[in-house]
Parts: sequence; structure tokens; C-alpha cells
Amino acid sequence: MGKLAITGGEPLRKTPFTQWPFGTQAEAQALQDVLSGTGWGGQPFPGKHATAFANKFAETHTVKYCQCVNTGTVAIQAALKAIDIRPGDEVIAPAYTWEGTVGPVLLLNAVPVFVDIDPDTYCLDWKLIEQAITPKTKAILPVHLGMRFADMDEILRIAAKHNLKVIEDCAHAHGGMWKGKGAGSMGDLGAFSFQSSKLITSGEGGAVITNNLEYLERVQSYINAGRASVTDNFHHRIVGFNYRMGEFQAAVLGPQLDRLPEQAKTREQNMKRLESRLQKTPGIGLLKPEPRITRLAPYGYVTKYFSEQVKDIPRAAFVAALQLEGIPCDGLFYEPVYKSSLFPLDPADFPALSWGEKRLDLRKMYSCPESERAAYKEAVWFPHQIFLGSTADVDAIADAIHKVLANIEEVRGLEHKAIRNQNLSRADRES
Ligand SMILES: Cc1ncc(COP(=O)(O)O)c(C=O)c1O
Repeated sequence: MGKLAITGGEPLRKTPFTQWPFGTQAEAQALQDVLSGTGWGGQPFPGKHATAFANKFAETHTVKYCQCVNTGTVAIQAALKAIDIRPGDEVIAPAYTWEGTVGPVLLLNAVPVFVDIDPDTYCLDWKLIEQAITPKTKAILPVHLGMRFADMDEILRIAAKHNLKVIEDCAHAHGGMWKGKGAGSMGDLGAFSFQSSKLITSGEGGAVITNNLEYLERVQSYINAGRASVTDNFHHRIVGFNYRMGEFQAAVLGPQLDRLPEQAKTREQNMKRLESRLQKTPGIGLLKPEPRITRLAPYGYVTKYFSEQVKDIPRAAFVAALQLEGIPCDGLFYEPVYKSSLFPLDPADFPALSWGEKRLDLRKMYSCPESERAAYKEAVWFPHQIFLGSTADVDAIADAIHKVLANIEEVRGLEHKAIRNQNLSRADRES
């Protein structure tokens, strides 16, 4: 029996951290308001709660318009439709992200082009974008991943130079700001997810934001089964789906948006405390500070693990040991999308992949070393809710990291289900 919980010792943390999501009386009241009326769905379009929330969400992100939709994946797809992405168009996206960033590109029979990430931010590396641009490129789809922003100054400069559109995937960035501008407000459109792990959530849900009325109208038509948009200045009629958000979902978003600034402050304070405790810890690296982020919106707190500084113990064993100490965290949180088991991709299903001189095999044609390093060796993700508690919670995270590192030899060569799971992508793990 060792000192670490994974080898039979006492876990450092025995009580749960703040659970997520949670609701309050304000959500209950808003739900009751929907329940007592007849407007439960997204029709008449848009609903009362969805409209009230959308107006406030737009203001929070410094844009004119917001449209609620039923998932974040749909938000990206509707944004791609808004800029008129057509079959065969190419869209540049980071390799290291959730599969849902690029699924919508393929579902429109367009072609995702993967670009590696910047190791300082784990976001799309602007320095590699220009070499990926071809005559077919129509858009760049940066993801503001984890706790950083893709470099919007450079991405907007490159987009303007090459006449490309920009859609910001803001699934991790609710309330975040870059140089005083809201996440999603700088590109042509921003797409948000309200899936249940996100910083505000309706269980499932999403939103598209933009400053461009024509784009808003296209989004509204597409997600409302092709009907005219609310304003219909541009008379777009698009063959669309019912991707509307229902009023029960919309109702629980408003109170969470009200709480977001206070929660953001708590998270930021707690994260700073964790960083002060982890400074100069061999084996642990912190992401480089970014002064252009003027309001932090960390969906996941991301650190780096350097196994070469810790006697070559692989990340899977470090993370599994930390989990058993009672600290929620994950290593293989994302994979480079082109390697993911959630990306089976039969080219026959996506004809545009076969329209060039040779058929594109997206699973085999890429090698993005920084994405692969982050995915398989280095990144350690902590969920945002564990930073909503007390300073004692943060100290438990830091103490557990130090405890595992101090006793790391105990996990060398260890066989354990938690370690096996850490070598599998989230979709493939044993429960
Ligand atoms: C980076 C990123 N993009 C897109 C999505 C898709 O959002 P949803 O799950 O709401 O469809 C997610 C959410 O899971 C995400 O994390």
C-alpha cells in the first residue's frame, strides 16, 4: 500500500466540489412562467424567453444580434449557412478541438482543413493559416479553447487580406472579452453552445451572434424550417430544419447569464490562487498569460504536464492518480479531430472529399505535432465548476498535485482501470 489513493492510500479530498450545472429559485420561477402559459416551443418564433435572453446575450458580447438555436453544433452550422458556405468550399479549423467544431462543415459537404495549434494557447496557430489557404478557402473557424482566445488580431488581418469570412467557435467562451470586445463579436459570426457542461447551460442549446442583419436573417430562416426571418429585409428563403430553441431551455438561461459575471470573478480569483501555488512546480507548466484577454471565460482550466521533468511517468498515470485523490480532471479531453474515433468519415458520405484530383482522406493526410502533443501527452483539463468554491477547494487541487508529484514513483508501471481509461478517448472509456 502506498501513499497515493491509486495505490491504496487515503484520498486527499473526500468531499465533492461544486456540482454543475445547478439551478436556483430564479430558474424555477422562469420555468413556472413557461409552464403556466401555452408558449412552450420555439413557435411563434422567436419565443418570449428566447428573445429576452438573446437581447441580453448580444449585449454581454458587444454585438447587435443574437439568435438562440437548439445546440452549439447547429449554431456553427447555421453560421456557416449565413456566410453561404457551399459544397466543396474549404474552411480552416484547428486540429485540436471538439469534433462538433468540424462536423457541421462536413454536413454541408464542405471540406475542413486542419491547422495546428499554438502551444502557448492551445488555440489555432495564426502563423500556419496562410499556408493552408487555397483558391477554395472561404472561411476560418477559430475556437477559443479552454481558457484562451485564438489570436483574433492576426486572424482578422489574414481574413481581410485573403477575403475570407471568420466564424468564432465560442463554445468555451461565454462572457469572455478580447481587448474589450466580446467573444464572437469580432468575426462575422460567433457560435455558442449551452450544452450541460458549459459556462451557462440549458441542458442542450446554442446561440449565434453577429453584427450583420443579413447574416442574422439567414440564420433565422435556416433554423426555422426555411420561413422568413423576423425582419425579412433581405428576403432569404433557405431550405432549413427546425433547429429552434424551446422556451423551457430559454427560460433557464436568463438567470445564469445574470450570475455569470460574479461566477467569472470567483473562477478567476481561484485560478490565480492555483497558479500561485503551482509556480515553479517541476512537471507542471502554466499557459502563457495573455494581456489582450480583458475578461477571462475559462471553460476548462488547462495546465501542461511535462513527463520528462517527472521521471518519464506518462500523463495518463499522473491524471489517474490525481482523479483518485478526489480531483476531477482529464488528460485526453480532446484528440486531434482527424484521429478521433468520433470522426469515422466515409468519403462516400461527403462527396466534396472526392472532387479534387485525388480523394481526400482526412484521417490520414494530417500530422499536427502540437495538437498531438497537447492531446496525447501534455494537456491536463480541470472543469470550471471546481473553481466556484472556496479557497480550501483550490488548495485541495494544488495539494493533490503536489502529493501525486512527490510520490510519482508509486505509479510507475501500475495497472489500473483509471490509467487504462486515460489512454482512451472520452467516447471509448470503460465506465
Ligand atoms: C469547442 C466546441 N465546439 C462546438 C461544440 C458543440 O456544441 P454542442 O455540444 O452544444 O452541439 C462544443 C460542445 O460540446 C465544443 O466544446
